Amino acid sequence: MDEVIKEIIIDEETIEKKVKEMAKEISDDYRDEELLVVGILKGAIIFMSDLIKAMDIPVKIDFMNVSSYGDSSVSTGEIKILKDLENDVEGKNILIVEDIIDTGYTLEKLTKNLEDRGAKSVKLCAFLDKVDRREVDVHIDYKGYVVPDDFLVGYGLDYAEKYRNLPYVAALKEEAYM
Ligand code: IMP
Ligand code: MG
Repeated sequence: MDEVIKEIIIDEETIEKKVKEMAKEISDDYRDEELLVVGILKGAIIFMSDLIKAMDIPVKIDFMNVSSYGDSSVSTGEIKILKDLENDVEGKNILIVEDIIDTGYTLEKLTKNLEDRGAKSVKLCAFLDKVDRREVDVHIDYKGYVVPDDFLVGYGLDYAEKYRNLPYVAALKEEAYM
């Protein structure tokens, strides 16, 4: 796979350290509360599994798969839920886990969707934040790293469904996606 990688942006050791810090902060914040950790398929699974393993409170986990019609031209568009939660949302503290926040449309709508279904609280945890690309205001409660607006792969992020399994975050060579 090395031949398609332009540059490693965040290496394995750095990821491990950051994820442990984030897990500690989250554990401390929910020490006396029940927590449902919701991973957004598919990108979040690698980050989420490292994160929950490093947490020292008992959590429940669940997954959603959503597709956003949202782009800048359809700001009122809804999200389409391709796979819904198996847990009831009502009265739950929910922590949404995402690989990366880009425009923010998906997360803005998903947060609203879960609040409308009666969640007690909805917070957001994202490993990466492409802050320069943001089009709607979403508050990221737990954030790993701000990253530049390059096309990134690895640690859950894909290009055409490939490279999610790279253990680091990397920028792809232009030839690989042109
Ligand atoms: P948004 O915040 O609604 O625009 O969508 C964020 C989603 O876009 C993420 O969950 C990723 O699936 C995808 N995404 C954004 N930037 C990248 C990238 O650099 N590489 C791979 N996927 C990306
Ligand atoms: Mg994704």
